[in-house]
Amino acid sequence: MKSVHFLLACVLLALASSLASAYDPNPLQDFCVAINNTETGIFVNGKLCKDPTLATVDDFTYRRFNIPGDTNNQLGRNATRLSVDTFPGVNTLGIILARIDYEPGGVNPPHFHPRASEILHVQDGTLYVGFADSNYTLFSTILYPGDLFAIPLGMVHFQVNIGKTDAVAFASFGSQDPGLVNVANAVFGTNPPIKPEPLARAFMLDVNVVKDLQEKFLSSDLAKKHVAACSTY
Ligand SMILES: *[C@@H]1O[C@H](CO)[C@@H](O)[C@H](O)[C@H]1NC(C)=O
Ligand SMILES: *[C@@H]1O[C@H](CO)[C@@H](O)[C@H](O)[C@H]1NC(C)=O
Ligand SMILES: *[C@@H]1O[C@H](CO)[C@@H](O)[C@H](O)[C@H]1NC(C)=O
Repeated sequence: MKSVHFLLACVLLALASSLASAYDPNPLQDFCVAINNTETGIFVNGKLCKDPTLATVDDFTYRRFNIPGDTNNQLGRNATRLSVDTFPGVNTLGIILARIDYEPGGVNPPHFHPRASEILHVQDGTLYVGFADSNYTLFSTILYPGDLFAIPLGMVHFQVNIGKTDAVAFASFGSQDPGLVNVANAVFGTNPPIKPEPLARAFMLDVNVVKDLQEKFLSSDLAKKHVAACSTY
């Protein structure tokens, strides 16, 4: 019986490690500082790696994360997202950070990250946060400075600054490229747009409300032309 359990454990472990390779793989070398030109590079993991002997401490240092993003916009929040383009030393390390600034009432709207779980750390302010699981159970709470909140991979989540002062939080991700899908944009802001009638039915809305939402969320003029064309049928 023991050996059966042992075998099962081995199988599960093997399964877990093969599943893990669906995410950022473990680095094949100490580091792979991302560069764009082929002359001094080797090709690993989709980006070129700088010749390790040419890497410097600057490749692993990012200094401007104390600067708040400008929250003077419709949502009242600004997310400063790093990537291997701005922070090349993190290439292949399976980690990245974002800074999120919120004015009072500022909203980080419902969104999800297809490739990473997240830990949100509140540095200043008071945030109402939550995520919904695939059973539509909402896990929500209020966070104060020093609090952390874990957001499982792929779950739709949001934050709102419910305090009277500006808030700032730092989000760390278990991928160098977590990806970002805003729910409203994925529904009302696609290019070309989804036909408004089925959206009206799906969301139990008047079709004119859907068209209005599409006008608001469509980013490009091309997509707006599509909406104009769609609304004729
Ligand atoms: C976020 O802040 C940066 C830096 O101030 C600014 O360049 C950018 O336009 C802001 N983004 C939004 C959506 O307001
Ligand atoms: C690589 O190219 C991207 C996109 O053109 C650019 O934003 C980035 O600064 C470049 N990175 C380096 C390390 O040269
Ligand atoms: C799903 O949510 C319902 C309530 O909405 C709850 O009764 C049920 O236990 C939940 N199931 C799981 C698997 O979490």
